[in-house]
Amino acid sequence: MRIAIAGKGGSGKTTISGTMARLMGRRGLRVVAIDGDTNPNLAQSLGVTAGTSEELVALPGDLLVRKEDPNADPPSELKIPIDEVLDRYGTPAPDGVRLLVMGKVEHAGRGCKCRAHSVARYVIADLLEYANGDRELVVDMEAGLEHLSRGTTRHVDVLLAVAEPYYRSLETARRVYELAQELGIDQVRLVANKVRDAAESEAIRTYAERHGLELLAEIPHDEAVLRADLDGRALLDAAGTDSPAVREIDRLAGVLLAGAGL
Ligand SMILES: Nc1ncnc2c1ncn2[C@@H]1O[C@H](COP(=O)(O)OP(=O)(O)OP(=O)(O)O)[C@@H](O)[C@H]1O
Ligand SMILES: [Mg+2]
Repeated sequence: MRIAIAGKGGSGKTTISGTMARLMGRRGLRVVAIDGDTNPNLAQSLGVTAGTSEELVALPGDLLVRKEDPNADPPSELKIPIDEVLDRYGTPAPDGVRLLVMGKVEHAGRGCKCRAHSVARYVIADLLEYANGDRELVVDMEAGLEHLSRGTTRHVDVLLAVAEPYYRSLETARRVYELAQELGIDQVRLVANKVRDAAESEAIRTYAERHGLELLAEIPHDEAVLRADLDGRALLDAAGTDSPAVREIDRLAGVLLAGAGL
């Protein structure tokens, strides 16, 4: 199963991606976590201690070759088998997860970021296609909508639109949700995060119902997430499986896996 996690900046995409990838790994699945952000920080949320994000190897842009047929879709293919990509460029993370970092922009301020963005987009799209089958992929997306405009998420099975309980965040999630549906992604679901109380929960449910969005999980606001973040540690390492946020992310993983027959 290939899961993309999208939504407004700061909504909790990286926290949910990293934690869910590891929880799936603990269920015995082979998980690849993909950092699709050009300012990567999924490593921390996964608890990769071997290297900070500066030391992680980003996928090289020339990993893809254009196909001869100009109408081919996708237009390019991987030069080396996906297993080799994972061996060479994957970073081992706890619970058997492998981390791939996509679009690190090496020199801020030099040149145009658009190329890094588009390379990342194609690499993710192709990886998603070629790695399908015996692995679960969790893609932590960049904030906003740009990556949805063809490419990056074309080949995912599930897209989770993450929203915090405030209007602009919900509106962004709704646009992400609707765009993903237009792209033909099989399952698009809303995930609420940082829900503090019954009133916020009610407001989100009402919003989801009004706009026809399927709400799959409500992750509570959890001080343990903030504390882990402050310490630069993975939520799972800092708080274990008892934190309310982890419990709900685990339930979410279970629902998604059950839906895919895993
Ligand atoms: N359930 C939660 N309870 C409390 N704080 C949370 C929760 N989820 C995430 N946070 C906090 O919210 C902030 C943003 O989280 P995170 O980095 O996961 O979001 P993001 O959507 O990946 O952000 P960006 O758009 O910058 O990539 C962090 O400080 C994180 O600790
Ligand atoms: Mg993030």
